[in-house]
Parts: sequence; structure tokens; C-alpha cells
Amino acid sequence: MQIRNTRVAYGWIAIALHWISAVGVVGLYLLGERMEAAAGRAEKLQAQHLHVSVAVLLFTFLLARLLWSASQPAPRPLERQRALRLAAKVVQGLFLLMIAALLITGPLVIWSAGRPIEVFDLFAIPSPFATRLDGLHEAAEEIHGAVTKLFWPLIVLHVAGALKHLLLNRDDTLRRMLWVRGAP
Ligand code: HEM
Repeated sequence: MQIRNTRVAYGWIAIALHWISAVGVVGLYLLGERMEAAAGRAEKLQAQHLHVSVAVLLFTFLLARLLWSASQPAPRPLERQRALRLAAKVVQGLFLLMIAALLITGPLVIWSAGRPIEVFDLFAIPSPFATRLDGLHEAAEEIHGAVTKLFWPLIVLHVAGALKHLLLNRDDTLRRMLWVRGAP
């Protein structure tokens, strides 16, 4: 069983971290939407508690993914056309920027309200701010909500790119992120 990446294939750890992060990000989006749709204050706070706890968990997975991929060779891209290779890189870059913006503004929404980030009733991350900061709170809330509007368009582009490789190019770009391939 191949654990590490090679220049042609992803290893199990990179594949597992990719799919755990994918499920986590989509789940977090759905939890965020559920929170916004909550009827009363109690329901909203409960949904927010879950959204935030899962977000902290996801944050650690994304950090692990970042550190793991920095320590590994990246398999060579299989896309032959330069313009499409560039387009895929841009979509991937925007996707990462969107997640980074959500992971920064999310905690700011809570801390600027003078509250700690409570994680599954297990522990709390205290606010670095001594008082409530209304301006920052409103800005972070606005940006967090606005950035989530990019969520489905970027997911659709990312998935469409992966399916193009599977169905039109018939290369291994998607397949090698689904299971570990042996040496060529
Ligand atoms: C990939 C990461 C994340 C995704 C996809 C995401 C998604 C969402 C969505 C869809 C909403 C509803 C926005 C709206 O409809 O206006 C939301 C709201 C919220 N999220 Fe996140 N979120 C992420 C990360 C975080 C993190 C890390 C935290 C805090 C630790 C957080 C805290 C909040 C809070 C407090 C709100 C409510 C804001 C308000 O009251 O308007 N989020 N999020």
C-alpha cells in the first residue's frame, strides 16, 4: 500500500485528506445554511455551535493536508493544453482563497462579539480581543456571508473539470485522486 505521493500518483494519506476535507467543507456549508434558516434564537445558537465546532475540526484537517502536501512531491498534471491547465490552477487557487477567507472571518465573527469559540462542549478558544468590536463584527459577518456565495460556482467548476478528465480526456486525473495507482 502506497502511503506517500510519487511524481505520477497520490498516496493514501493525500487521497484520504482530500476527501475528508471535501466532505467537511460541503458539510460546513450546509450547516451554515441551516443556521441561517433557523427559526428561533435557541435553534440558531445550537446550529451555530455545531457549525463552529465542525469548522475547528475541519481547520485541523486542512492544516494537516497543507503540511502533508508541502512534504510530498506533487504528481505531474496530466492536462495537455496550457490554457486548461492554467484555468484549473486558477479555480483551485480561488477555492483555497475562499476557504482561507471563511476560516479567517468565521472566528472573527465570534471573537469580535466578545465570545470564545466553543468546540463540542469540550474546550473553548478565548477571544484575543478585550472588548466587543462592533465594526469588525459587522465587517466579518458581511465578508463571511458574501464569500459563501462563491461556494457553488467554484464547486461546479472544480467538479466539471474533474469529470472532463474522466469522460472526455479519459486520463487518470480524477482516477488517481480516487484510488492509489501502482507504479506505471
Ligand atoms: C470552509 C469553511 C466554512 C464554510 C463553507 C462556512 C459556511 C457558512 C455559511 C454558508 C454560512 C451562512 C452565511 C449566510 O447565509 O449568510 C456561515 C455563517 C457563519 N459561519 Fe461559517 N463557514 C466556514 C467556516 C467558519 C468558521 C471557521 C467559523 C468560526 C469558527 C464560522 C462561523 C460562522 C458564523 C458565526 C456564521 C454566522 C454569521 C452570521 O450570523 O451572519 N464559519 N458559514
